[in-house]
Amino acid sequence: MLKRIIIGNWKMNPLTAREAEKLFNSVAGNVSKIKKTEVIICPPFIYLDRLKKLSKKISLGAQDAFPGEVGAFTGEVSAEMLYELGARYVILGHSERRTLGEQNSDINKKLKSALSASLRPILCVGEEKRDESHEYFNVVKTQIRECFNGIGKNLISKIIVAYEPVWAISSTPGRRDATSADSREMAVFVKKVISDLYSPESANNVRIIYGGSANEKDAADFLKNGGVDGLLSGRASLDAKKFAEIVKIAEKI
Ligand code: PGA
Repeated sequence: MLKRIIIGNWKMNPLTAREAEKLFNSVAGNVSKIKKTEVIICPPFIYLDRLKKLSKKISLGAQDAFPGEVGAFTGEVSAEMLYELGARYVILGHSERRTLGEQNSDINKKLKSALSASLRPILCVGEEKRDESHEYFNVVKTQIRECFNGIGKNLISKIIVAYEPVWAISSTPGRRDATSADSREMAVFVKKVISDLYSPESANNVRIIYGGSANEKDAADFLKNGGVDGLLSGRASLDAKKFAEIVKIAEKI
């Protein structure tokens, strides 16, 4: 049986390496008995190296990667460098990066670089708003088609798709809660889009998770009824108890 996936996206937190170690150790202490759930923490780049030494149970991921291997790219960090630092996953196409101007074509290049560096991409997709004419399905379809462009059938099972409706993310002003029905509907749709692009079998091999204010109170509902294999949590992942609780819920279901 494939493991459930619970991912913590720490974003630009915490402020010091000491706090990062404390938070990580606290999560590690709480999830030491977990067997059926893959626990992944995505801290800022600079903490990866020290965190990798602290737990064998928790995998590490980065929050972005440059789409190129080597060269004069001031300020960038390549997928290979991240792998070397201990990351095995990388979040790509997060809405907070799309807001800074990242396009599907950029994310497509990043996906290819990540895959060739043996990092498993966690590809974020999701609409900014829901409209009555259901245009949001087209938004997500375009994201999937353009981000997957040119990626071989043999590699797509490495990609985790995180459906993150921007309107449900904790930092979105005026945000509102998504329901497990919203998640299930989109998870089915994403599988269909991938199935049309590749094959039904390929679509079945892509893991789909939900993100957007996921927390210890709604985790069970999303995991049971949301049609997803896991959760990507931002704010709740900065609280070791809450995050560990989400992991334990996933383990029990
Ligand atoms: P949130 O963040 O859980 O704080 O909404 C999720 C994300 O942005 O990845």
